[in-house]
Amino acid sequence: MNSVYNAVKITDKVYWVGAVDWNLRDFHGYTTRKGSTYNAYLIVADKITLIDTVKAPFKEEMMQRIASVIDPQKIAYIVSNHSEMDHSGCLSETMDAVKPEKVFASAIGAKTLREHFSFNQEITPVKDGEQLSLGDMTLQFMETRMLHWPDSMFSYLMEEELLFSQDAFGMHLASAKRFDDEIDPAVLHFEAGYYYANILLPYSALIAKLIGKVAASGLTFKIIAPDHGPIWRTDKKSIIDWYAKWAAQKPTAKAVVTYGTMWKSTEKMAGAICEGLSAGGASYVLLNMEASYRSDIIYELLEAGALIVGSATLNNNMLPKVADVMTYVKGLKPQNLIGAAFGSYGWSGEAIRQIQDTLTEMKVELVGEAIRAKNVPTPDILAQCRDLGKTIAARLKG
Ligand code: FEO
Repeated sequence: MNSVYNAVKITDKVYWVGAVDWNLRDFHGYTTRKGSTYNAYLIVADKITLIDTVKAPFKEEMMQRIASVIDPQKIAYIVSNHSEMDHSGCLSETMDAVKPEKVFASAIGAKTLREHFSFNQEITPVKDGEQLSLGDMTLQFMETRMLHWPDSMFSYLMEEELLFSQDAFGMHLASAKRFDDEIDPAVLHFEAGYYYANILLPYSALIAKLIGKVAASGLTFKIIAPDHGPIWRTDKKSIIDWYAKWAAQKPTAKAVVTYGTMWKSTEKMAGAICEGLSAGGASYVLLNMEASYRSDIIYELLEAGALIVGSATLNNNMLPKVADVMTYVKGLKPQNLIGAAFGSYGWSGEAIRQIQDTLTEMKVELVGEAIRAKNVPTPDILAQCRDLGKTIAARLKG
């Protein structure tokens, strides 16, 4: 085999042996404009241990990186922190190739892995708080249910104070760089937030609890090694502080105004609402859904206080792109928002009611009446839009 890929040393005993996916552009609905990485890690302890694997098409890349450090046949243990396919897609094949003594996962992880794949070897379940001796080193497991699946867990390498955090603290960012201190902090903040909004937002209450649990455990971290994106070896505090802030979902004086338009009537209304927001002292972002990714809209809601949605009516429905975005955003369960619906129509106008219903299902507190324009917004309708913007600004600032 001609070897192309090498491991990256993290500490004297731990190596990154993952893969970089430069071409990924969609991760179950999340637009991954910068690709991703699937991080796997090799602990060169007495019992050589592989933490997670990679997406199936990248198995060879991972195996080459492992082989640049040790003979893969020397791997004694594999730990699967998360069953999703981007981390376990080649687990079965890796087990067949390596024939480890044991493979570990959380109790739910062991079950989930068996439901997804077939294995020629048992998966050993581990409990929350359980420790695993690697001879000269020790792993401690911590269940992190729903971060990002029910099976998820962290593994903490005690001697190195190194947390393998699977999806948590990660980002979809393909890069030639492996460490946080090699990447612009503004890029880290944006990409970590984009990832949080598109993957972890629904589990914010659990994340807030987890941060408390980890703080109470007294564990200290020299390194946080997630399953996507850079390894946090320098600035661990920022990513934990960002998570605490995002998990709180405290509303800000910013509105997200987003719409779908047919012949610009709904777009004019959106513009007037933004003028009102601005006059009232609130900040806003204006996103035409046809010119935006659904992932952008949920990202903008991560630090916002209002969601104002408009659509023209097409064939008795909201526009298809509006339905797409509303389905996606509703599923990610943003909290503590106020909002409103608006739109234009030719003869029926159902879209506005449908948006209101969706906002209500999302527990968005509706402010004022929905604004409807027949065909083209009149000066009076545009004045109503400006007033709505001002009213929402006052609420956000209050
Ligand atoms: Fe990176 Fe939930 O998988």
